[in-house]
Amino acid sequence: MIFIAGATGQLGNAVINALIESGTPAAQIVAGTRKPEAAAALETKGVQLRKADYADPASLDAAYQGIDTLYLVSGDAPIDIRIAQHRNAIAAAKRAGVKRIVYTSFVDTAEDSPFGFARIHADTERALAESDLDTTILRHGVYTDVLPAFVNGYAERGVASPNQHGKARFIRRADLAAAAARVLTTEGHAGKTYTLTGPTALNMADVAALLEVRSGKPVAYHVLPTADYAAILVGATGMPQWLADALAGMFAAMDRGGYDIQTGDFARLLGREAMPVETALTAQLGL
Ligand SMILES: NC(=O)c1ccc[n+]([C@@H]2O[C@H](COP(=O)([O-])OP(=O)(O)OC[C@H]3O[C@@H](n4cnc5c(N)ncnc54)[C@H](OP(=O)(O)O)[C@@H]3O)[C@@H](O)[C@H]2O)c1
Repeated sequence: MIFIAGATGQLGNAVINALIESGTPAAQIVAGTRKPEAAAALETKGVQLRKADYADPASLDAAYQGIDTLYLVSGDAPIDIRIAQHRNAIAAAKRAGVKRIVYTSFVDTAEDSPFGFARIHADTERALAESDLDTTILRHGVYTDVLPAFVNGYAERGVASPNQHGKARFIRRADLAAAAARVLTTEGHAGKTYTLTGPTALNMADVAALLEVRSGKPVAYHVLPTADYAAILVGATGMPQWLADALAGMFAAMDRGGYDIQTGDFARLLGREAMPVETALTAQLGL
């Protein structure tokens, strides 16, 4: 049995779809959520729903019974809380006799990164290495799917972020889900770390230039200090300050080069490249 954590989320749901499309019987998939009662759409796929909250070890002990492989999706809590939550999940998996954990890490896990969430992934990778379980680390590039939110209003205001020159190899959740399905259903991945990034690298000025060409309207790019950018995120979206600080730090972290990594791991797993960010972003924006 394969347990998909974060199953109501966009990535976990895409992984369930990719598993079913590639021939895994739905009866072999268990979908984890904190609110099974609100996840009826998942049940219609034929998968089993189980309540699992990283903050509630007892729920994890019950949820992981009979599970061979756990696809551990990183949570969405602040840094120190999330570090403890992921450790709860790994400890519960061990207690329940789970054989293998496949973890959704991040392309750059440098603990001194201005993107504070890198610390979470570094800690979880460490906990997995110490767990004695078979583990596979999937280091994800920044999702192409989140870019539209960061260029919202580009036609009126241009694009702004703390990123100066450093590039990122953005990749779609759908491509990451296809890679996950391959890893979850084939042998030979124990002890491996795969860095899953897209085939092309762009910085945020390149993104603005792309939007200018495709929209036919001028799109200026503005570099902002991280604190100013975080304040704009809080004001425009109401997101909590800790999250805005992390996201602003992510754009600053792009300048250190750690997001522009191409290992060939994606193509080796799937025999094709991921969709280039240029194609995916312009399709998402209807350009
Ligand atoms: N690489 C990137 O660019 C990037 C971008 C955004 C996010 N991420 C990371 O990737 C993860 C998946 O992304 P996504 O787009 O699928 O996010 P999403 O749509 O927001 O889904 C997050 C999932 O995490 C689950 N979750 C949150 N807290 C939990 C807890 N305490 N216990 C158990 N499950 C919990 C939620 O499940 P329920 O609410 O159903 O319990 C939900 O299914 C995110 O959580 C985040 O860590 C990466």
